[in-house]
Amino acid sequence: MAKEEEVLVSEAQIAVHWREEEYYQPPPKFIGQANASDPSIFERFSEEHFPECFKEYADLLTWDHYWHTTLDTSNPPFWKWFVGGRLNACYNCVDRHLATDRNKAALIWVPEPETEDTRVITYQELYIRVNELAALLQDFCGVKTGDRVTFHLPMVPELPVSMLACARLGVIHSEVFGGFSGAACGDRIADSQSRILVTMDGYYRNGELIDHKAKADEAVKAAHEHGVEVEKVLVWRRYPGQYVSKSPMIAGRDFFVDEVLKDYHRKVVEPVSLPAEAPLFLMYTSGTTGRPKGCQHSTGGYLAYVTGTSKYYQDIHPEDTYWCFADIGWITGHSYIVYGPLSLGATSVVYEGVPVYPDPGRPWRIAEQLGVTIFHTAPTTIRMLRKVGPDEPKKYNYHFKHMTTVGEPIEPDVWRWYYNAVGKGEAVIVDTWWQTENGGFLCSTLPALKPMKPGSCGPGVLGIYPVIYDEKGNVVEAGSGRAGNICIRNPWPGIFQTIWGQPERFVQIYYEKYCRNKESTDWRDWPYFAGDGAVLAADGYFRILGRVDDVINVAGHRLGTKELESASLTIEEVAEAAGVPLMDELRGRVVEMYIALKPGLNPGRGDIEEKVARAIETEIGKIARPKNTWIVADMPKTRSGKIMRRVLAAISNFADVGDTTTLANPEIVESIRRYVQSEKLARGETPRALSQQEIEEIKLFGSAE
Ligand code: WTA
Repeated sequence: MAKEEEVLVSEAQIAVHWREEEYYQPPPKFIGQANASDPSIFERFSEEHFPECFKEYADLLTWDHYWHTTLDTSNPPFWKWFVGGRLNACYNCVDRHLATDRNKAALIWVPEPETEDTRVITYQELYIRVNELAALLQDFCGVKTGDRVTFHLPMVPELPVSMLACARLGVIHSEVFGGFSGAACGDRIADSQSRILVTMDGYYRNGELIDHKAKADEAVKAAHEHGVEVEKVLVWRRYPGQYVSKSPMIAGRDFFVDEVLKDYHRKVVEPVSLPAEAPLFLMYTSGTTGRPKGCQHSTGGYLAYVTGTSKYYQDIHPEDTYWCFADIGWITGHSYIVYGPLSLGATSVVYEGVPVYPDPGRPWRIAEQLGVTIFHTAPTTIRMLRKVGPDEPKKYNYHFKHMTTVGEPIEPDVWRWYYNAVGKGEAVIVDTWWQTENGGFLCSTLPALKPMKPGSCGPGVLGIYPVIYDEKGNVVEAGSGRAGNICIRNPWPGIFQTIWGQPERFVQIYYEKYCRNKESTDWRDWPYFAGDGAVLAADGYFRILGRVDDVINVAGHRLGTKELESASLTIEEVAEAAGVPLMDELRGRVVEMYIALKPGLNPGRGDIEEKVARAIETEIGKIARPKNTWIVADMPKTRSGKIMRRVLAAISNFADVGDTTTLANPEIVESIRRYVQSEKLARGETPRALSQQEIEEIKLFGSAE
């Protein structure tokens, strides 16, 4: 190609030659028992039957009042599903199972210490506990339908109990991942204007009893700084009657839940019958905005969607023991540990701790002891278990019929280890692609009906019609080998309703880019922009490349570069900061920070690197701690002053920095590159060869901003 022509071709258009992986067929035994084994299901959910096809999911629920309109598009893109319908999510996940499954295990909780007994919570016990807590929330805390309550809870059964108690009352819960810092929790309390915080004194992680209550004090303080007062802090105790935190209880503000519950013994609270569109919960996530966004999920649409996808994609049957090894503090846990499985009346396993405690055989021991048949986890966990215990699974006598990978792209050879070693060649795998905003799966193979392809999530799921657009909105054809932005052409019941308190940003971030006509009430004019890069193979399978906005996916956790950068800017000496992803063998991606100091300051002094790392831990959490912090003289910038994080990401990963001639200060790139890369080599951080996928991801990083 001539030099002149080259310039006209944008990076996203450069054809990439992807190596196609071999298909794996689902085992006949799996097909024989699958919930969806008749291909006519694809026809039922085809575009010509949209949106009525989703009646099939909604009919899995028990409605107090049936809906009259399946999809109302009159105020795009604020779609309304199952309008006129009324229901209660807690009733659907608990009460309705009592008649047939009162004494069945709803939750099996596995504490991290192996010396502690596994706890089985039957549907009957769950019913009692949820009612008592709902009575407490209503009476002692005075919360009402539509109020928000923030949780900062670890992986304990009290978390699903608290969620369901709120759902019973129509109170909107907002769980903040237990690993996030007190300050991060406080921001989310303030944003959602919660008056009540529910937390726990401590929990086990990697053999250590973590003091968690201390974070509640920081959270209340941070919320106060944002102008929101927390009135009550409800503290569950890891061992009721015994307080394991060193943080003092504040009289009149902090209460032990187990003590207050005594006043609500055997109290029953009628589930509140709510409109299908009543918000069920908020889940905060990171994105292009500086502040985390509170994704607001609905009651009817969300619950229908997670129930339907749990049935067909997780293939949950009444007799299965289902273990989703994710944190309930993330959307995966909300949808596929709590709401989906419990709505189906399944047995859902909740594990408190880390995968490799006390040894890498732990998950397989749990699977053997509980007879787990369906196993669901993230590539980070799989990579870790493979690294430290590649031969462990075969020592244990468990048999999975089905496994899921979610949250990050999975490398084909990691996929194959999962399939062969963990699944023992007997289990199907679904690679499910979706996001906090989406409620449930967007792309996946339907396990009995489509072959698996390592590294590809597969086609759109039932009733989801994805497409790849280039920057100009042209369709990128299947099999072209070109990468672009994956979008969903249609609304679906699980899509979030809005960003809490920021409806304009909801429209702007997710719909503005490809909206064809803002006046139109036809959903076809409002494709949903997911913020991920992808390629579509000729067979209709998508391969997800990663975020195109400034989000770094660390071990499946979304971290916004803006959050990392504002945390760094709390350090006085720092003038500018940029966070970039670095490829990591275990955690997928980790964070690297680039820092420019205020004029006149000397980079050699003051321990800036450690200060930045600590600020990030305090503001966000340990998970976000940067692997390296590089102090540079200046940042590579566009003429309009935007920091080119993509160029820094390329340097961090020893990738090609691409064309830098359009930068305002192109000369800086080479000096940063030389400094950072020689320092990395000196530290023994030798680069490995990048895969095609990773090269593409770096090129796209931040391109949507
Ligand atoms: C990434 C997690 C590749 C993607 C459910 C998405 C994936 C972000 C996959 C959402 C997958 C999720 N393959 N990448 N199967 N699943 N992702 O909101 O970049 O925590 O945008 O939701 O994770 O992360 P979130």
